[in-house]
Amino acid sequence: MPESQEPTQSRPPLAANGSDAAGEETAAESAEQGRMNADEESIRSPEIENPIVAAEGLTKRFPTGDEELEVLSSLSMRVERGEVVAVVGKSGTGKSTLLHLLGALDRPTEGTVRFRGEDLFEKDDEALAAFRNREVGFVFQFHHLLPEFTALENAAMPALIQQQSLAEAKPRAMELLEALGIAARSEHQPAALSGGEKQRVAVARALMNSPALVLADEPTGNLDTKTAGALHDRMLRLSRERGQTFVLVTHNLTLAGRADRTLYLREGRLYDEAAERGEGRGSQV
Ligand SMILES: Nc1ncnc2c1ncn2[C@@H]1O[C@H](COP(=O)(O)OP(=O)(O)OP(=O)(O)O)[C@@H](O)[C@H]1O
Ligand SMILES: [Mg+2]
Repeated sequence: MPESQEPTQSRPPLAANGSDAAGEETAAESAEQGRMNADEESIRSPEIENPIVAAEGLTKRFPTGDEELEVLSSLSMRVERGEVVAVVGKSGTGKSTLLHLLGALDRPTEGTVRFRGEDLFEKDDEALAAFRNREVGFVFQFHHLLPEFTALENAAMPALIQQQSLAEAKPRAMELLEALGIAARSEHQPAALSGGEKQRVAVARALMNSPALVLADEPTGNLDTKTAGALHDRMLRLSRERGQTFVLVTHNLTLAGRADRTLYLREGRLYDEAAERGEGRGSQV
């Protein structure tokens, strides 16, 4: 369930910039997408007002023995209401760390995250848990379904946490499972679901409470290209129908290209595409 699910995941070695082949494989697609998005400067305009999420000076250091590993370094980011932003970057650069901070699953070492102008980390842990349940839908990198609950119950969990009964929550949960093509699996427990089916249940759960902000961490990471594309499209369609804001981490640059904007996480900061296309360093966003 969102507020108790810690973002436990197997960690890559502690290198701030590990190597990852997936990024290179699709560089050509990235360049193509860059050309297609050449007119998107307006979206990145610094005049953007009232972002739904705004990070400023966001720094995250993890203690590692005697030293500290700085993963995010005074990063800034603004996401507009209804925008779909893809975050890409090599393995170990801090993409999951960033999503966890944007969704207040973890606290930064320094800096702020404002949600509709409100400084999240001024809240205590209880208020943050309520905020997450109400406003944020997470699709975790490793789905984190609860093994003892069925697909339907897992999907309905954010509503159950809000004290809805399963009978009350069921229609919306079934609607989402249907839209994601897994209604027939609603009574299965996660162990009896395929990887792609589990990912789809995790997406249904993230959308259950119609949160304003959906944070998806490689939601299609372990799926074949076709299944990944289909899930990605369904997820975005469902989300756009409700005007939700979406921050999506992906290694798949083709899928990233379907977002309104693609940001590259490198050396603790976010950059726009120009840097990746070899047109100078690009601007930090
Ligand atoms: N709780 C933690 N304690 C110590 N180090 C951590 C912790 N969480 C993350 N790290 C380190 O921070 C760095 C960034 O991790 P993160 O999981 O954010 O990377 P990522 O970009 O999501 O990688 P991937 O693409 O492999 O999922 C890694 O080097 C990781 O080992
Ligand atoms: Mg990650």
